[in-house]
Amino acid sequence: MREPKPFWSDVPAPVRREIEALVGSPIRKGTRVFGGYGPSATFRIFLEDGRTVFAKGAGKGSNEVNWRVVPVEESAYRNIDAIRPFSPSYLGSVMADGWHLLLLEDLKDAAAVPPWTDKLAVQAVHDIAQFHLRGMPESGKVDEINVKGFTDNWRTIRYNREESDCFLGLFGEDRTEAEAWLNDSFDILIAAESELMRMDQPWGLIHSDIRSDNLRFRDDKLVLFDWALACRGPLILDVIFFFPSVQGEGGPTAERLLPVYKQAMSDQGVSFPSYAERAAAAATAGFFASRTGKPPIPALPRLRDIQRLQLGPALEWAAKVLSLPKPPPLV
Ligand SMILES: Nc1ncnc2c1ncn2[C@@H]1O[C@H](COP(=O)(O)OP(=O)(O)OP(=O)(O)O)[C@@H](O)[C@H]1O
Ligand SMILES: [Mg+2]
Repeated sequence: MREPKPFWSDVPAPVRREIEALVGSPIRKGTRVFGGYGPSATFRIFLEDGRTVFAKGAGKGSNEVNWRVVPVEESAYRNIDAIRPFSPSYLGSVMADGWHLLLLEDLKDAAAVPPWTDKLAVQAVHDIAQFHLRGMPESGKVDEINVKGFTDNWRTIRYNREESDCFLGLFGEDRTEAEAWLNDSFDILIAAESELMRMDQPWGLIHSDIRSDNLRFRDDKLVLFDWALACRGPLILDVIFFFPSVQGEGGPTAERLLPVYKQAMSDQGVSFPSYAERAAAAATAGFFASRTGKPPIPALPRLRDIQRLQLGPALEWAAKVLSLPKPPPLV
């Protein structure tokens, strides 16, 4: 099952002409590209002169979210200097005939993960730290992180029967054990998640959606794209939210990677209070805990799978950092 993305044949002639004018070559053909978990318009465009470029945005059939975030991503590519060393080059945008596409350097020759290696994961974390350090002075260029859906997931699961049923349903035969684990852990999880947005920790420009489908490695350096959720938020959340996906995809754990991040940051004088780590771990686990067991969303047919992949490691890490009992395994 794949996402309902628009076809290249849906792109009208005037939009193609504008792309041609922008890149300076006639287009030979275009193909849809799948990779993330959403339905945004994503194309590889083959030019007559032999080059390829990548187009990403909204158009025929795009939903409200697609339309809302394209300008956010466009503004990031245009206005934030800090992301340039860590991103595909931005070639310009085309807005015509009900389409809004960003033209980007095609990363087709850059290395994709998984498979993760320890070396690649450490490189990624090191480069995220460099991005955070560079981005701090520019954090005023983006909106503050939307706290909704981040700081009260465990509270919602505790006080809403439907929500707790969705979560407990993920444990199959171990449901009773999971319920006991929850009851032992709620107080600590809820207290920790509620501290996520405290201001007395390092804040700055964050990507907010770092995962293997939004990154590549070029010349062994991290390249990040999909800047649609770029915002100002707690720096540590950006990495702690990323780690469960690495482990879920067979890479190293948060236990291995967080010290790499903290060392790279402290080398430049940025250190984190211990509550920040606990808050981000609790909030990340809560984020996936409150979503994974919900019914599928038709336009996002693979979303629950990737959430499940992240939930296991996220729970494990939260339990470790918060000194909770070990949660039972997911089905
Ligand atoms: N510049 C690029 N070069 C090559 N491939 C890219 C580039 N940008 C994105 N991709 C590929 O296209 C996929 C989708 O792009 P992107 O992550 O920017 O959008 P998205 O909003 O996550 O899209 P989706 O709707 O697929 O979730 C990526 O996962 C990646 O595989
Ligand atoms: Mg993406």
